[in-house]
Amino acid sequence: MNDTKRAFEATLKRLQLDYLDMYLIHWPSAGYVEKWRALEDLYEAGLIKAIGVSNFEKPHLDKLLATAKVVPAVDQIETHPYFQQAELHDLLAKLDIRHEAWGPLGQGKSDVLTNPVLVQIAKAHHKSVAQVILRWHLQRGIIVIPKSVHAERIQQNMAVFDFDLTPAEMSVIATLDKNQRGSSDPQDAEWLARATTME
Ligand SMILES: NC(=O)c1ccc[n+]([C@@H]2O[C@H](COP(=O)([O-])OP(=O)(O)OC[C@H]3O[C@@H](n4cnc5c(N)ncnc54)[C@H](OP(=O)(O)O)[C@@H]3O)[C@@H](O)[C@H]2O)c1
Repeated sequence: MNDTKRAFEATLKRLQLDYLDMYLIHWPSAGYVEKWRALEDLYEAGLIKAIGVSNFEKPHLDKLLATAKVVPAVDQIETHPYFQQAELHDLLAKLDIRHEAWGPLGQGKSDVLTNPVLVQIAKAHHKSVAQVILRWHLQRGIIVIPKSVHAERIQQNMAVFDFDLTPAEMSVIATLDKNQRGSSDPQDAEWLARATTME
C-alpha cells in the first residue's frame, strides 16, 4: 500500500502536478487488491480524479470488486478487430466500467491495416483503414488511445467524428475477430510474476 502511494507521489513530482486526472493499475500482478486500496485512499483524498485498471479480466475483476469501495472507472485492455474482446466488453458494460482499448490499431503487429474487408469499407467512406477501425471502436462505445509519431496520422486519427459505419459494416467487422492477441495474456501467471516491475 505504501509502495503504491510512494510511486504515486513520485509520479506527481515528476509531472510537477498537484493531482492526476486518472491513474491505473497496469497489470493484475500480485497484490493488486491492496494496491487498489491505496488508489481508493488517494481518490478519496482528491489527489486522483478517476482510478482504473488495465489488463484486468473477469477473475481479476471478481476478486477486486469483492472488497472494492470504488468501482474502477475504466479497464484498459488490448482490443482491435483481430482481438475484439466481446465477452469482456459485455461484462464491463454490466459492471459500469468503461472499456478503453490499448493497441486499438493492432500495434502494427498484424496485417489489420491492410485487411481487404477494412480497405473496402474505408474506400466507401473516403477514409483510411485506421479511421474505420477507430470509428468501429467508438461505435462499440469504446475509448481509444491510438499512438502515432507522425503529425498527419495523429490528425487523421482524430478526424473520425464526421462519418458513421452502417450496422451492416459493424456486423462485417465483427466477423474479422480471430481471438488473436498481439501481447501477453493477463491470465498467464508465470509471465505476470516475471512482469511485476511493469506497474
Ligand atoms: N495498458 C497496457 O498494457 C498497454 C499496452 C500497450 C500499449 N498501451 C498503450 O496503448 C496506446 C496505443 O498503443 P500502441 O502504440 O501499442 O498501438 P496502436 O495505437 O494500435 O498502433 C500504433 C501503430 O500504428 C501506427 N499508426 C498509428 N496511426 C496510424 C494511421 N493513421 N495509419 C497507419 N498507421 C498508423 C503507428 O505507426 P507510427 O507511430 O509510425 O505512425 C504504430 O506503428 C499507447 O498509449 C500505449 O501506451 C497500453
